[in-house]
Amino acid sequence: MTARIYVPRDAAALALGADRVARALAAEAQSRSLDIVIVRNGSRGMHWLEPLVEVETAGGRIAYGPVKASDVPGLLDAGLLEGKGHPLCLGATEEIPFLKNQTRLTFARCGVIDPVSLDDYKAHGGLKGLEKAIAMAPLDVVKEVTDSGLRGRGGAGFPTGIKWKTVHDAPGAQKYIVCNADEGDSGTFADRMIMEGDPFVLIEGMAIAGLATGATKGYVYTRSEYPHAIAVMNEAVAAARAAGVLGPSVLGSGKAFDMEIRVGAGAYVCGEETALLNSLEGKRGIVRAKPPLPALQGFLGRPTVVNNVISLASVPIIMDKGAAYYRDFGMGRSRGTIPIQIAGNVKQGGLYETAFGLTLGEIVDEIGGGTASGRPVRAVQVGGPLGAYFPRALFDTPFDYEAFAAKDGLIGHAGITVFDDTVDMLKQARFAMEFCAVESCGKCTPCRIGSTRGVETADKIAQGIEPEKNRDLLADLCNTMKFGSLCALGGFTPYPVMSAMTHFPEDFSPAPIVEAAE
Ligand SMILES: Cc1cc2nc3c(=O)[nH]c(=O)nc-3n(C[C@H](O)[C@H](O)[C@H](O)COP(=O)(O)O)c2cc1C
Ligand code: SF4
Repeated sequence: MTARIYVPRDAAALALGADRVARALAAEAQSRSLDIVIVRNGSRGMHWLEPLVEVETAGGRIAYGPVKASDVPGLLDAGLLEGKGHPLCLGATEEIPFLKNQTRLTFARCGVIDPVSLDDYKAHGGLKGLEKAIAMAPLDVVKEVTDSGLRGRGGAGFPTGIKWKTVHDAPGAQKYIVCNADEGDSGTFADRMIMEGDPFVLIEGMAIAGLATGATKGYVYTRSEYPHAIAVMNEAVAAARAAGVLGPSVLGSGKAFDMEIRVGAGAYVCGEETALLNSLEGKRGIVRAKPPLPALQGFLGRPTVVNNVISLASVPIIMDKGAAYYRDFGMGRSRGTIPIQIAGNVKQGGLYETAFGLTLGEIVDEIGGGTASGRPVRAVQVGGPLGAYFPRALFDTPFDYEAFAAKDGLIGHAGITVFDDTVDMLKQARFAMEFCAVESCGKCTPCRIGSTRGVETADKIAQGIEPEKNRDLLADLCNTMKFGSLCALGGFTPYPVMSAMTHFPEDFSPAPIVEAAE
């Protein structure tokens, strides 16, 4: 019987040598005349175990990792094809605690299926949501998404159904669905993982959005730094078109929807929806003033849904299982599940999908296992480069949009970056200002000029120059940026800066420089 072996094609696994492992397996199998097929799946999201190799057995999939190419002969000698024991054997994949304790709704198939096989997608429940949506009136689809409580996973947490309703109601013969796959936040990789591991779920979500709002054309806007995601998405779109999932009559419904992948150069601000639309139109990626909202005048001035990858990829399961099923997970106004991306100085980094409501401490200490360095955790930045730094004292904060906002923080795209006790928070505050200065689109003064002044002021504090006056100046500057900036790049840079100053004041009072005595 042919043995089925899985070796991820996800960028994180590739960076750790997955291609070399796949080549070694193929060569060794040939020289030993073994009957195997190697499936290049997505990642299960346990990055410290990558490359994670799995083998299909009668009792389910057995995992081995992290596997190096040089481990392959020994693994085959030990009985890899039968799932037998070896020092790298992790047992049944689904029983690994990091995976077992998750609630995988959006990522249910990621790492499980062959990402570019539409048959595999369908065999694992794919296209059921789209089939249901086709049988419903567009406004009922919009209502289902609204009732699910789904909020935008790109950062702002805006209710997805309400956005769709605005586009549905907007007059216009041509409407668009634009998927924001720019994923510029530090420590985030959920969008990339879905595109590389289960591209059809995004395609299905976009097709449902098109049918619900009356949009017939979609674009995925991603960045050139994601070559593997681009390749998988292009292959999947072609397969979906060939099978009639996309095209003039989606699944024979008589309704049209087609889409293509567009690649930007990778400017952080091009993740902001209006700068993204400019870039998509071939213009410079500069922020547009709102109103008009993109929902009314977006791509080429037409009504446009701009949604994050995870927002759109969560729609198929909502349509398949119903709004109530999805809404049942979560807490408060944060409904459903959220793929938390754990990165930085952490023992078990990766993607952990769970219902909203776990505390930050549970995520960092229990799921992440603390720092990789073994030193105490000092700070955690939640929500990318514009997110606040949380100290241990705030580790009881539940993962929920409102709970984080109440502590002057944000969830953003749900990336968390862990730092140990060697971190210098003044340097981190300076970095936030420097990042803003480098990435600013330059349209408004508080962001363009303020961020550069912020870097200079942080440097003066570090040099012990009038520290009290300069701390006040930095706080004043943050206030101006927060309330005077046109978009959240300038408007949210104060979050990391002010949280660093508030929670770690000792780092902002360096010892004054003492002149050496003559
Ligand atoms: C500077 C900046 C960068 C952003 N980058 C991203 C991004 O990479 N991906 C994303 O989905 N949203 C990003 N956003 C948020 C988008 O403007 C927008 O809110 C989002 O795409 C809407 O989709 P959602 O409602 O599904 O979250 C960014 C916003 C700002 C201000
Ligand atoms: S805040 Fe910064 S990035 Fe945003 S519009 Fe103003 S200058 Fe551009």
